[in-house]
Amino acid sequence: MLDFATLVAPHSPEDFLGEYWPTRPCLVDTNPDRATAFSAAVPELDSAERLLSTYPAKVGLMGRDGFYASVPNGPAALPFLRQGFTCYLRNLEDHLPALSDLLDTVARDLALPREHLICEVFCSRGESGVAMHSDYDLNFAMQLHGTKRWRLAPNDHAHNITTTVFGGGRPQRDPGQLRFVTSLPLPERMPDDAIEFTAERGGLVFLPRDWWHETHALGECLQLNVVVKGPMWLTVLTKGLSEALVTTDEWRDIAHGIAADGAGRARAVKAFATLLGGLRARLDSTGDEELAERLIAAAYGEHTA
Ligand SMILES: [Fe+2]
Repeated sequence: MLDFATLVAPHSPEDFLGEYWPTRPCLVDTNPDRATAFSAAVPELDSAERLLSTYPAKVGLMGRDGFYASVPNGPAALPFLRQGFTCYLRNLEDHLPALSDLLDTVARDLALPREHLICEVFCSRGESGVAMHSDYDLNFAMQLHGTKRWRLAPNDHAHNITTTVFGGGRPQRDPGQLRFVTSLPLPERMPDDAIEFTAERGGLVFLPRDWWHETHALGECLQLNVVVKGPMWLTVLTKGLSEALVTTDEWRDIAHGIAADGAGRARAVKAFATLLGGLRARLDSTGDEELAERLIAAAYGEHTA
């Protein structure tokens, strides 16, 4: 059975959690046992062709020139794989039960809510790779087939970003991320002292949040990522509050008038202020720790993983 120990081998889960998680990269160049374990538990991961030939959900297609498109399922993606596009599959755990079970164990061992973990695959033939960028999530990238070269460096320009940031002058997916940048301009290319690393069969790159990276692959490649997408503390607060307040008639009411001018706007502000006054009274009568417990429980239940 696949579990968290499979993911971090040859480190033990205890060593990984003590030494690397969540801020230090953990690099394992090769570990054929890991690749074998995944093939045994999920035969679809034996090759890109095999995975795509039965994959029922949307597949992203990425070209080396920045081209991006998608097709509705794996069979439709096969001709593009053969033409050299990188295929990108998300939420494989929805279709492959062994990966869903794996995420259960990973969530438990990382003590994070299961709903914030997903599995992704990148597969390609020929020459492929991604240009310099920094991700908001934490990735366990396992090289199940083929060889991939990585360059890694800490992102000292932006801290705790909330979506991917690209290096240099490339257009940002979310220009709002530039609010979190502490020094501009963003670097055009990876620094000369970047970590250079090659992942081969069964290799692992554990990539913490806020690390610049670029990759280059040659030949048949299949990389499976276990991705930890949160939650951020602000997610816990907003989700917890939302779950707690949704039980109240008044909070479920439509916010009529908030885009109005003049008297309409004043009425809306008054209605909202009344609700906030009631919420403040509830918060003021609850101790910080009790409030924290209640919001976590409202958001994720008593036991989260
Ligand atoms: Fe990335």
